[in-house]
Amino acid sequence: RLRKFDVSPISGFLPEVEPLKCLPDGFLVWEELIQSIPSRLHAQNIRTAVESMPVLDITSLTTSREQNRALLVLSIIGHAYVWGETPPATTIPQCVAKPWVKISAILERPPILAYDSICSQNWARFDRNKPVELGNIYVLNNFYGGIDEAWFYLVSVDIEARGAPALYSICCAQENVKRKNVIGLITDMRDIRRVILDMTTTLSRMSEHCSPWGFYHRVRKFLAGWTSHNLHNSGVVYENQFDNEPQKFHGGSAAQSSLLPSLDAVLGVSHHSKQSNGYLKEMRRYMPVAFRGFIESVENGPNVRDFVDQSSSQPLKEMFNKCAIALKEFRDLHIRIVCQYIINQSSSGREKGTGGTSILPFLKASRDETSSARVP
Ligand code: ALA
Repeated sequence: RLRKFDVSPISGFLPEVEPLKCLPDGFLVWEELIQSIPSRLHAQNIRTAVESMPVLDITSLTTSREQNRALLVLSIIGHAYVWGETPPATTIPQCVAKPWVKISAILERPPILAYDSICSQNWARFDRNKPVELGNIYVLNNFYGGIDEAWFYLVSVDIEARGAPALYSICCAQENVKRKNVIGLITDMRDIRRVILDMTTTLSRMSEHCSPWGFYHRVRKFLAGWTSHNLHNSGVVYENQFDNEPQKFHGGSAAQSSLLPSLDAVLGVSHHSKQSNGYLKEMRRYMPVAFRGFIESVENGPNVRDFVDQSSSQPLKEMFNKCAIALKEFRDLHIRIVCQYIINQSSSGREKGTGGTSILPFLKASRDETSSARVP
């Protein structure tokens, strides 16, 4: 079932083969530009360099590794162009806009920097014989660069790697519901809980190399999308695309990871509030299309929570609830990090997330909805 949705039983939502580090020769101009992005952002001269690029045709990029590399490169160039000088640009030139819109259409996602690109498609291992984990991974590309930015992305990559085994357990859990196998289901819930605890341990390491000041002042402005306050609600024009109508896509957000929605789906967490529902549904459009299908297949599969609720097994109910509590505690920790890294750093107090949400109401609603998944 995992393979049907391009999910790897080994690496989960991370590519099983490391992301491509460099596009074929015909795309050297993009690859050279992206290497110069940190220096150009420091020197405030990114825009003229972007504008001088030719319009490249992406039809020769046919493998999924090439297409994902192209989407990452164009997304970083596009966001560096918009946010790299003051005031932000409101038109993206054709040399970026045209291939960006085209590759996004092929991958069925909006032309904007998304979580899958900047995290899942942006890492490599120092030692290929060792696991994908903090200490053995580095980022391929970045904006300003530096350890705060790299660590911010790499923590997510590690969380995806930690989360991978849960996806297999999710399938087993639904299979065991079908077979009414209580003992098997308890084991699956225990395994899923173990994974969530590991993910939480990784998240707790954020401050090791990413400081709140560094994140707030040197990382997050580039991740914002075209719904940001800084664009005064005007959106961004992709030159000669979309009839030159301004577009308002959301920026990069971990809500675009497919991992938590999969865990929510197996636990029957219902994000029904007005703060969480619409946004989380919309973020699915920003995920790789096959992963969206996986989440839906879990949602439409055998209902684990109902089975646990109706079961007379106390150990099953306890293990299920421990699992839901572990997920709630992951979200608690995330809220504490957001308070330190965004709310306490902000002078305005009316900060929006890079994905466009009112941050705390959204995160608290999602957390409280996770607690509600527990069975009596
Ligand atoms: N979504 C995160 C933020 O709002 C990255 O800063």
